[in-house]
Amino acid sequence: MPQAHTLRHEFYRLLESHTAGGWCRHAINTFLVLLIIANVGAVLLDDAVATGPQWQPRLQVFAEVSIALFTAEYLCRLWVVVESEQLRGMSPFRARLHYVVSPAGLIDLLAIMPFYFGASLDLRYLRLLRLFWLFKLTRFSPAMQSLAAAVYEERRSFLGALLIVIVLLITSATIMHVLERDAQPEAFGTVLQSMWWAVITLTTVGYGDVVPHTALGKMFGGVCALLGLFMFALPTGIMARAFLEQIKRRDFVVNAQLVSHVPLFAGIGVMRMVEIATMLKPRHVPPLYTVVRQGDPANCMYFILSGELEVQVLPQPVRLQAGDFFGEMGLLDREPRNATVTAVTDTQLLMLEEEDFNKLMRAYPEMRTAIERVAAVRRSMPDTPCAPAPHVVAQPARHKP
Ligand code: CMP
Repeated sequence: MPQAHTLRHEFYRLLESHTAGGWCRHAINTFLVLLIIANVGAVLLDDAVATGPQWQPRLQVFAEVSIALFTAEYLCRLWVVVESEQLRGMSPFRARLHYVVSPAGLIDLLAIMPFYFGASLDLRYLRLLRLFWLFKLTRFSPAMQSLAAAVYEERRSFLGALLIVIVLLITSATIMHVLERDAQPEAFGTVLQSMWWAVITLTTVGYGDVVPHTALGKMFGGVCALLGLFMFALPTGIMARAFLEQIKRRDFVVNAQLVSHVPLFAGIGVMRMVEIATMLKPRHVPPLYTVVRQGDPANCMYFILSGELEVQVLPQPVRLQAGDFFGEMGLLDREPRNATVTAVTDTQLLMLEEEDFNKLMRAYPEMRTAIERVAAVRRSMPDTPCAPAPHVVAQPARHKP
């Protein structure tokens, strides 16, 4: 039994964990995303080009294999969700129910259900239903998740904006009905009929199939068109602000997790961590990528979260690893880069720009001392084979300014 639990935990890491799972999780996610895109592409192509009979069996097999894979994915998620940190303390049944009724769980279920229970549905519609697999992409796209979170967060503001829209629609339809009903009884005979004109005008779509004929009607139509501009600016503004807020929040959470892995910032306290997390920007570089080139102006420094880099110094290059930092000398000395630094493996870095570096050094002198200590060790060994600099932890200053 414990072995089954370990296996379940491993599968959870691969399928759900955002911080673990490594390249294997990345590969699974990429495969699922490609499968969705390939299916949507196949449906669109089949629909548009009406592929010949020789393609039909192949497309059918592809669809069936995809459905089987997504079913396996759903069952797997249902099995492993018990391992979720957030659902800890819940019984396995409740944790699984939580997944089933969650937005992501519902999308996963709705994506496969029609193919098992929709035997009576026309095959054409069943095929088109695969287009809705696009919704499954929300799981893999942090931007889409942020958008959904933004809508949820601002639901009250949206409801307010929606109320304004409804009031405006009914009011303008009523006024237009009064102004135009005699001139055009077929289009403005009732308030409900006038509603079509109101919707098309206020949304600034303006099909032009129904237009006011009377002078007063035209004047009022102009006012409505202007009001429409403001009316839709309101929810757009709310959405844009909420989306930006969500992205900032998500970046902050990711950064805060990453910052806690940098030895220099170990034990600096929550408030400082919060401040630093907003300054650091994650960067991912592939092997052989030159991050810093000798002689280039220095405008930032880097902290290594994972991977290995090589500093091209004589008589032999120096390797830097997770926990080390580089690019500090140029900032401290206000000099160009004194060496080239190249990634040896896939590397995850945190970048600190010059302006933020200066701010940080002014605010936390103990951090400056720690960085200067490493720079001094590096400077003192230009002609000897150097070992990577020791991991340094900034000690908080005794007397804070
Ligand atoms: P900078 O001069 O800004 O850019 C190149 C960086 O390489 C430098 O800062 C240091 O961070 C790093 N570096 C230079 N010499 C050494 C060394 N001997 N050992 C480790 N790192 C070094």
